[in-house]
Amino acid sequence: MNVLDIQNIFTEAEVKINQANGLSELEEIKHFFLGRKGEIARIIKQIPELPEGKRPSAGKEANIVKNKIQVLLQNRVQQLKTVKEKSQKTDISLPGIKKELGRRHPITIVIDEICKIFEHIGFTVVEGPEIETDYYNFKALNIPEGHPARDDLATFYLPFENTLLRSQTSPVQVRIMKEVKPPLRVLSPGKVFRPDNLDASHSFMFHQIEGLVVDKETNFAHLKTALSYFIKKFFGEDVAMRFRPHYFPFTEPSAEVDISCIICGGKGCSVCGRKGWLEILGAGMVHPNVLKEVGIDASVFQGFAFGLGIERIAMLKYGINDIRLFFNNDKRFLKQFA
Ligand code: DAH
Repeated sequence: MNVLDIQNIFTEAEVKINQANGLSELEEIKHFFLGRKGEIARIIKQIPELPEGKRPSAGKEANIVKNKIQVLLQNRVQQLKTVKEKSQKTDISLPGIKKELGRRHPITIVIDEICKIFEHIGFTVVEGPEIETDYYNFKALNIPEGHPARDDLATFYLPFENTLLRSQTSPVQVRIMKEVKPPLRVLSPGKVFRPDNLDASHSFMFHQIEGLVVDKETNFAHLKTALSYFIKKFFGEDVAMRFRPHYFPFTEPSAEVDISCIICGGKGCSVCGRKGWLEILGAGMVHPNVLKEVGIDASVFQGFAFGLGIERIAMLKYGINDIRLFFNNDKRFLKQFA
């Protein structure tokens, strides 16, 4: 026996251990090299036959190799155990965990669609604050003291001086006209608040979109053209539109705009109250008092404005009969909108 023998044994052991793929196989390898009648034992048995001077170093060498084989075996056992545990944890035949995708809320979908239609004819989307002052929500809009809209049954007042939750998006008109010089063509969607009791058609929070155009020689025909374009794009080419005279403090003349009932086609049904028409928005020519308040010369510039309720339009478009469905966050409802 010589040192080479023992090194060969080590190399052989190392290869076998690394190639072993099971614990029982490693057990056999251990037995073959380290067992009582194994390779190392066989070497050790030969030591007494060596010349005396070589015996101590050969014994030492044999022990080192024995220890090294033991370490290799232990490491490989550990390695195989980890692999096994991992493969037990991952059962690739199990169905995966589905990640649910969020989607846009139907109100957001309708707002986006309306904005897109108006952007096509040159409108820009702007936003205003939900907490407003008496000045922007009422006074600058020509809504006098004592007007029923100012009643605390119609407006949520906040406990700071002259502040309130806006009850309409019209104050954005005032803000934008004070900030930007005409010509103006803006659209402003957002939340509004009114102390109404919750029922199928009322909510203390809902959404409106405000539209405003200010330019030289702007007239009622421009208003009608813009709204007619929007209605046909949004509800369909067959839908008819009519203007009814109305009163709003911030427009003169003012109108309410109806569309032919999209449920019955104008014949009369329960949704349109047998009238064949559905009221969808308020509109008019910006009142000279409002222009004066924001510092626009009414003899040079005129404007038209309109305001519509998003929930009402979304309910008509999708055939939804209860406004509360928009705010209950029931996934069975929400997932029906792409
Ligand atoms: N602010 C009105 C409301 O909440 C809606 C409205 C009507 C807005 C006429 C307008 C308008 O801009 O011209 O009922």
